[in-house]
Amino acid sequence: MKTILVTGGLGFIGSHTVVELMEQGFDVVIADNLSNSQPEVVDNIAQITGKKPAFEQINLTDTERTKQLFQTYKPNGVIHFAAFKAVGESVQNPLKYYKNNLLSLINILEGMRENHTDYLVFSSSCTVYGQPEKLPVTEQTPIKPALSPYGNTKQVAEEIINDFLKVHQKEHNFQAISLRYFNPIGAHPSGLIGELPLGVPDNLMPYITQTAIGKRPQLKVFGNDYHTPDGTCIRDYLHVCDLAKAHIAALNYMQTHQTLGQAEVFNLGTGKGFSVLDVIHSFERTSGVKLNYEFAPKRAGDIEQIWADPTKANLQLGWKAELSLDDMTATAWKWEQHHFAVTSDKQ
Ligand code: UFG
Repeated sequence: MKTILVTGGLGFIGSHTVVELMEQGFDVVIADNLSNSQPEVVDNIAQITGKKPAFEQINLTDTERTKQLFQTYKPNGVIHFAAFKAVGESVQNPLKYYKNNLLSLINILEGMRENHTDYLVFSSSCTVYGQPEKLPVTEQTPIKPALSPYGNTKQVAEEIINDFLKVHQKEHNFQAISLRYFNPIGAHPSGLIGELPLGVPDNLMPYITQTAIGKRPQLKVFGNDYHTPDGTCIRDYLHVCDLAKAHIAALNYMQTHQTLGQAEVFNLGTGKGFSVLDVIHSFERTSGVKLNYEFAPKRAGDIEQIWADPTKANLQLGWKAELSLDDMTATAWKWEQHHFAVTSDKQ
């Protein structure tokens, strides 16, 4: 397996995975429509790896262009990140989410079928479990009805992949893995790539770093009377560089294991839950910056607490999250400072 198509390869998780793939000797083709990413990321990846990856600016809902993309590069495998991911926006604009997230997947599966591209790694989410009755969450934890159109696109996408495999797997020996991510944060240790949301961030970590650098006046902590030790929500935060490595482990796994009739599912997390206040305190410790925050009402739709049982990924993929919460907050801050310096130089 040599050439990997990485859709959404300029995004947060995508760009870190591209770096890891290139460092492991894969040829990478990035397909990204820049809807939530910047073209400069290609140069930053080149600065880290010493080599520029191929980049195609393409909207994967465009069936013809996606067909051409596959014909041009004939990738051996696809890692499919490209998707809209703002939970709140998906509630306001469901069709935008269904059209983008599902049509792009269908075009990719067609491209794979027509071009003998055998391996697919799909970006799924722990959102498919909703608020589980039992913690930690294993791959056997029942899937709950999705709370948002975004969450539903992840569930339906997993079903589409399974339906595709049931019928077409034998044609080309297709293999697929769905990786259910918990909460990836942090940034590459170089500080050259990281999470770069356009507009006001929805997620905790970029909101913290943007507040600390002065782009946002204050962080609102959504809810402090949850049934958790400090009253704030608990998540399984994992370092994006650890997460990136899991994708290479997934590609390797598919070459040596036969999954029949359905995608193999893996939960990716550290297995430890941290509260919003834990993340804030870690950030203050590693950055030396006192964060301006206040408690605010609960955010609609938030899950109280969730963390993974990553044993299956540990044993079968030979993958384990290694980096600590302090590594996550320290690198996220390094990235924010780097990004701030670069963007203020341009002004
Ligand atoms: N939070 C705040 N203030 C903020 C932003 C977030 O207090 O300004 C809190 C949230 O209430 C939550 C925690 O920080 O308790 C984490 O929130 P994020 O938005 O960073 O992450 P979520 O767990 O809500 O969502 C993430 C991904 C989704 C995915 C989901 C699966 O962003 O795409 O995990 O649970 F679906």
